[in-house]
Amino acid sequence: MNQASRATSVPGFFNSSCLNGGQDDIATYDCVHSVTTRIAMDAGGGIEFLDDACQTCSVPIRHPTIGLNECALFCAVIYARSDQQMKYLVTGAAGFIGMNVSLALLERGDSVVGFDNLNPYYSVELKHSRLNRLVAKSGFHFEEGDLADRERLPTLFAREKFDAVINLAAQAGVRYSLTNPHAYVDSNLVGFVNVLEACRHHEVKHLTYASSSSVYGANTEMPFSVHHNVDHPLSLYAATKKANELMAHTYSHLYRLPTTGLRFFTVYGPWGRPDMALWLFTKAILAGEPIDIFNNGQMRRDFTYIDDIVQGIIRVSDRIPAGNPDWSSEHPDPSSSRAPYRIYNIGNNQPVELMHLIETLERNLGKTAVKNFLPMQPGDVPATFADVDDLIRDVGFKPSTPIELGIERFVRWYREYHKC
Ligand SMILES: NC(=O)c1ccc[n+]([C@@H]2O[C@H](COP(=O)([O-])OP(=O)(O)OC[C@H]3O[C@@H](n4cnc5c(N)ncnc54)[C@H](O)[C@@H]3O)[C@@H](O)[C@H]2O)c1
Repeated sequence: MNQASRATSVPGFFNSSCLNGGQDDIATYDCVHSVTTRIAMDAGGGIEFLDDACQTCSVPIRHPTIGLNECALFCAVIYARSDQQMKYLVTGAAGFIGMNVSLALLERGDSVVGFDNLNPYYSVELKHSRLNRLVAKSGFHFEEGDLADRERLPTLFAREKFDAVINLAAQAGVRYSLTNPHAYVDSNLVGFVNVLEACRHHEVKHLTYASSSSVYGANTEMPFSVHHNVDHPLSLYAATKKANELMAHTYSHLYRLPTTGLRFFTVYGPWGRPDMALWLFTKAILAGEPIDIFNNGQMRRDFTYIDDIVQGIIRVSDRIPAGNPDWSSEHPDPSSSRAPYRIYNIGNNQPVELMHLIETLERNLGKTAVKNFLPMQPGDVPATFADVDDLIRDVGFKPSTPIELGIERFVRWYREYHKC
């Protein structure tokens, strides 16, 4: 399942909620990479592709004719389709990122078993709505279960024989970890060791898992780099994510299990999470209620659009890490090892001032927020900014969706979903 074993001439699939999906939208290109192309709509409603070639290897894309669209300018991601169908386990498939990753894998022809315990940390109805989008697709099967249940995964792995695993299930959220520490121990530590054990015993070729920008904790050197030490987490959530990276390394070292950890930077977009700032602000502004602005608005975040995260995850998952022959114990690089182990940041590499986010949201909603300025929250950090050089070097990709476009899409989805 490494890149060399993939087809050399593969049809691609568009993945954009803006496009008329389906077989008519097939583009072709003769490489194995996922391709991002910017698309503009001309005056007559036709679509013009602004990028003609794969950015990784420059192979030309043969564009299809596609239908009318209401957007003026947007990006479409074209995923290489494997002629050799892969079977993935995606944990957290009813979650925000898990649903979107599963959809993209199914679109390129892979099969996916989605695993989730549908816990009530936030609206279970939203999780079911996401799942409904997945179960409608062929190649998808859902398993309800808890990662912390030690008996569950071995049976599932023995039956399904997964080629690759993408572990996104976790107890997320920094603030919740101040009051509910055990939820993080159960899902993120006990659950993660169960995933590692199952991968080890069932010859999974690559485990890709979610870490978080929160591991940078007390670090202040910007941009945050995977080559910096991250030994000072500021929340239990961050500590469990850092622990995941350490646990993964031991399995990569002891059992040669290839693992890649991805530090996501504030992911947002349609089908997002109701506990995150963009959703909370949108809900409150529409209701005329005040929004809490921490650190008196002196916050900067690398907001990363969901389609960019999905593309990053899939590209990374397709690239099985090998040991780094240049790794030296005298100057140990934290992002790699002699073992098949890698860590990458996936962030927009363009931090946004919190007040700019709020102004953009106000413009899209056509309403002004009632602002409640508050001091810094315990466990929170004032800024995040991702160095993505390693991601660009190894998978030829960098998130690039501008915040203005991402917020526009989020607001449109939010209004449609809530009929408001
Ligand atoms: N969204 C972000 O901005 C962000 C940033 C950094 C890291 N992450 C990480 O990315 C991953 C996905 O995040 P998300 O935003 O999609 O979160 P999410 O909460 O929407 O999705 C996580 C899913 O995992 C499920 N889950 C939780 N514990 C489980 C368990 N023990 N067993 C089975 N299922 C379980 C939940 O029901 C949920 O559907 C998480 O690991 C999160 O920590 C997310």
